[in-house]
Amino acid sequence: MASRESWATRIGFIIAAVGSAVGLGNIWRFPFLTGEAGGAAFLVVYLGLVAVVGLPVLLAELVIGRRSKRNPIGAFDALGKPAWKFIGGLGALAGLIILSYYSVVGGWVIQYIIGSLTGGYVADSEAFFLDVAMGWDTVAFDFVFMAIVAGIVALGIRNGLERAAKVMVPSVIVLLVVLAAYGATLDGASAAYSYYLSPDMEYLTGNFFSILPDAAGQAFFTLSLGMGVMITYASYLGEDRSLLKDSGYIVVIDTAIAFLAGLVVFPFLFTQGIEPGSGGAGAVFISLAAAFAELPAGNLIGAVFFIMLGIAALTSAFSILEVVVSFVIDSTDIERTPATIVIAASIFVIGIPTALDLTYLDLYDKFANNILLILGGMLLSIFVGLVYADGAKAELSEGSPLGASIAPIWVLVSAVVVPVVLAITLYFGVVEYIEFLRESFL
Ligand code: PHE
Repeated sequence: MASRESWATRIGFIIAAVGSAVGLGNIWRFPFLTGEAGGAAFLVVYLGLVAVVGLPVLLAELVIGRRSKRNPIGAFDALGKPAWKFIGGLGALAGLIILSYYSVVGGWVIQYIIGSLTGGYVADSEAFFLDVAMGWDTVAFDFVFMAIVAGIVALGIRNGLERAAKVMVPSVIVLLVVLAAYGATLDGASAAYSYYLSPDMEYLTGNFFSILPDAAGQAFFTLSLGMGVMITYASYLGEDRSLLKDSGYIVVIDTAIAFLAGLVVFPFLFTQGIEPGSGGAGAVFISLAAAFAELPAGNLIGAVFFIMLGIAALTSAFSILEVVVSFVIDSTDIERTPATIVIAASIFVIGIPTALDLTYLDLYDKFANNILLILGGMLLSIFVGLVYADGAKAELSEGSPLGASIAPIWVLVSAVVVPVVLAITLYFGVVEYIEFLRESFL
């Protein structure tokens, strides 16, 4: 077992958890998926899933973590249910895959910081993106990002991250609000808002099951759920606080930042006449870079924005690597530093294809999010709902009268609603994934 630290301050945990949740998922992934899947229709399904499955699974992870005070694999031993340990293993696998391309996108962000300072994207933001996103340069910047993440994890400077997160979250919100306000003045704003905010009911009902896997995968990804990050973070908690309240902060802040990112990105896309679904993974980078290129002092605003995004990405990437590293440290005799180096290097190698070709990035991304995280979330939910219901109820009630009154409903929802919704989601996710494989590789 690694030594059991605990959070330095009451808000330290919330900040670290928010730091993990808020990242590329909110500002990069959310707007591009929304653009690909019909705008407001996607937003509605996503928000519904955050409430119906995201919140209960977040509570499940927090409860398991705080009660067991262990890493996501050891936790099930500590709770006397060793047969369920494989959920933690599944999470570690999801972590390997997610971090392998997350760090690639982190490398893009580094290139955009440089591009802002040198004016690299001013002439042609689309060409710049393609240059940034694929090739051996991309591999090199992926390496740089990964080395930074590994350095932080190896040093275990949690304080550095706590401090970075304290500055990061407010700054991201301020910057996004400023950009959204600027976006509101653009020509394309009203068309963008109607695309983003008023759902086309016919489209929604007609495409519900194809929207579902992406929306659910995004709900899990953005809240850092389904792979044990929140179990790990909650394992460092004392008993004296309301997990319900903490989960509320995490969900509200994370969702608000994603929502704001949409308010920024869509007016810029519509104003430049870019089809919202067309840019794919590049949509956000292309549209924002084009916007910064036109703004007065745009290179400065751009640099600040991408630095914030880079910090947001780091605090998320750190949490993913930490889960895998803590698993290896706990289950072998390997020390933290060599474990971190070996794991980071392996993840880097696994990620190389995604730095060379965006199709691989999609391949990894959909598999990890729409399949592994959903499966992990479903199993965690069944665990607290059916296998460990009494302990789970007791833990949620700890330090929280409101938690105590909600606990029976939460356990019921976890036993029935969440597994059913996620089983349906998983089915369509697998079907869609097979289709995607066929289209891309055959
Ligand atoms: N939630 C992070 C983001 O939105 C990504 C992440 C996924 C972090 C899974 C940890 C675990 O960027």
